[in-house]
Amino acid sequence: MSDDLRSFVQGLPKAELHLHLEGTLEPELMFQLAGRNGIALPYANVASARAAYDFTDLQSFLDLYYAGCSVLVTEQDFYDLTWAYLLRAAEENIRHVEPFFDPQTHTERGIHFGTVVAGIVRALDDGQKHFGISYRLIMSFLRDMSPASAGQTLEHAKRYGRHIAGVGLDSAELGHPPEDFEEVFAAARGAGYHIVAHAGEEGPPSYITGALDILGAERIDHGVRCLEDELLTARLAMDRVPLTVCPLSNVRLRVVPDMAHHPLKTMMDSGLLVTVNSDDPAYFGGYLVENYVAAAEALGLTRGDIVALAIASFEASFLEEGPRQERIGEVQRHAAAYGFEGTASTL
Ligand code: HPA
Ligand code: ZN
Repeated sequence: MSDDLRSFVQGLPKAELHLHLEGTLEPELMFQLAGRNGIALPYANVASARAAYDFTDLQSFLDLYYAGCSVLVTEQDFYDLTWAYLLRAAEENIRHVEPFFDPQTHTERGIHFGTVVAGIVRALDDGQKHFGISYRLIMSFLRDMSPASAGQTLEHAKRYGRHIAGVGLDSAELGHPPEDFEEVFAAARGAGYHIVAHAGEEGPPSYITGALDILGAERIDHGVRCLEDELLTARLAMDRVPLTVCPLSNVRLRVVPDMAHHPLKTMMDSGLLVTVNSDDPAYFGGYLVENYVAAAEALGLTRGDIVALAIASFEASFLEEGPRQERIGEVQRHAAAYGFEGTASTL
């Protein structure tokens, strides 16, 4: 049964919209890059690195996640990181990705912005060429750094024109509300970037409202805490604001007590445009297929629910209308081959 579910999910064309490239750094590659760059790691081996991943909340995870990034130095390192993810994505039939990267994590260590972008974009272009995986790259500002630093990062990004499609906001949420970044997001909107923001993961529903009203977010990353505010939930549903939900991440970072208590199904039943994503799969124990399977098993999702989630992943993407409908058609053909009708959930 579970194998059937897994192969159904695996074959289903999907988009991934909430994925931190730095969060795909598997310990094996971390050690390989550390060796190549002569960097000492605080772990004796791959197994002890994995064993150290015993975080209890967002901040304890972020401490390890940023430490792991120290091995990323050259353009080739960023290529290898991105390429390793794309190999997984191709295996999982991910047809479109909108990954995040955190420029400040690297520029703070003296790595040039251009080095980071060049490696990532070269891999994404190869992924498009070899696997037909389309992409829109999103750079995220670290909300626990200053708005001035975000502003400098935006200035860097403008030099890379078409390579960066969107701007996001991530890192430690509590105590760093969206309004701190009003000015830099206004500048990003003015420069034509798509806008997304992490909100309502650990932070309260008011951070979701702030992300929408103050930053102009078109999509909310996580957003699970919206359910604490009925009016906000109704607004998100009515305006079809996409929420990029990450089930395994929420369990690992104790945003929810366990998968059986994950609000994904409640969110779907509330009419929200929710998508399933993997966030930082090297750290949270599973890539995209595993997130769908774990949520489906714990919450009793039907094949129809799963198809609706895959369709939603393209609806919520920044693809243009033509390619978006083509991808949704692919999902519907896959569903029909299994005897399911996939219906677009557009109102
Ligand atoms: N939340 C905030 N910042 C992040 C995350 C997350 O889940 N993953 C990587 N940076
Ligand atoms: Zn995230």
